[in-house]
Amino acid sequence: MSAPSILFFDAKSYDREFFQAANGNFGYELTFLGHRLTGESARLAEGHDAVCAFVNDRLSPEVADTLADSGIGLVALRCAGYNNVDLRSFFGRIHVVRVPAYSPHAVAEHTLALILSLNRKTHRAYYRTRDGNFAIEGLLGFDMAGKTAGVVGTGSIGRCAAQLLRGFGMEVLAFDVNPDLEWAERSGVTYVDMGELYRRSHLITLHCPLTSDNHHMINADTIGQMRDGVMIINTGRGGLIDAPALTEALKDRKVGAAGLDVYEEEDQYFFEDFSVRGLDDDVLARLLTFPNVLITSHQAFFTREALTNIADTTLGNIRDYFEGRPLENEICYRCCDEGCRKEEKGRCFESGPESAPPSE
Ligand code: NAI
Repeated sequence: MSAPSILFFDAKSYDREFFQAANGNFGYELTFLGHRLTGESARLAEGHDAVCAFVNDRLSPEVADTLADSGIGLVALRCAGYNNVDLRSFFGRIHVVRVPAYSPHAVAEHTLALILSLNRKTHRAYYRTRDGNFAIEGLLGFDMAGKTAGVVGTGSIGRCAAQLLRGFGMEVLAFDVNPDLEWAERSGVTYVDMGELYRRSHLITLHCPLTSDNHHMINADTIGQMRDGVMIINTGRGGLIDAPALTEALKDRKVGAAGLDVYEEEDQYFFEDFSVRGLDDDVLARLLTFPNVLITSHQAFFTREALTNIADTTLGNIRDYFEGRPLENEICYRCCDEGCRKEEKGRCFESGPESAPPSE
């Protein structure tokens, strides 16, 4: 019997490198496509056994139909977030697995890189000194020690970030819909409500998933509750921030700095080169003009360790599927909306048309 064939969408050179290296232990047939997964490109899955997708692939109902018609029973996400998947339309037909944690350190450390650059303006100093300009006017920062940081979402990444911020001598306030009081006490972190976090924090960093409840949680109203000159960092998901409202607050100097690794409309631009063509997105273009805004292209995860873990876990998830084992990293709308029920079965549903998704 030939090895299962996995089709990768939106694959870059680093995906090939790390997945081919990890595949030495698995022996699958890997095919890498540069195209994003869309209603159109989903047809290319015909003849393959599973599909591997990334953050900006759109796993819409149309894609679910096309993949199911092509006999695909598994989509393996090579990322943690799954806000790009219409889980209801996959349920009962196509299992969806993800990599829940691959290196919280990678994302938390990038968060600190954004904070430190924006605070001490190293991104600007770099260009000045290369141009022979050794003046330091305009590069004034602040001591982080003694200031207050607000961490929204204290899962694996938020905890790492909180620990790093504590290491700088900051007071750390946190908010999570499921607070872990024991961890907070051990780590010297204080849970507060969002109002207090907004009111007291000198910098606010977002580490929660994007859900239907927190879309645009950072908006004109919540920015109005924050300290003047607050620094806002987002390595979570773009949709957590109303970007036009952030732009206005930067223009009014209400927000002192913003570090964004994610952007709501990022799927049009991130991971691609638009340096010659230019941008059509006026909000992104305006954000890029502020000296106190630092945008990175969804690269917080991008370390060797993280890519190695992503490849190992993704191929391990695929092996579990083909070998009929429980799918530890499976997600479905029930896991996500109602708490997981798969413990008894080992999988979120038994494959087959009889388990079609209930209509809403
Ligand atoms: P996690 O699942 O370990 O933690 C998420 C935490 O957020 C949980 O404690 C949960 O209770 C909390 N939460 C959920 N809804 C919330 C809300 N409305 N308000 C406050 N807290 C809420 O996830 P992890 O691994 O820490 O990742 C967090 C997010 O970071 C992911 O959902 C993903 O969107 C983003 N991410 C970004 C990456 C990047 O490269 N920029 C890479 C990996 C993840």
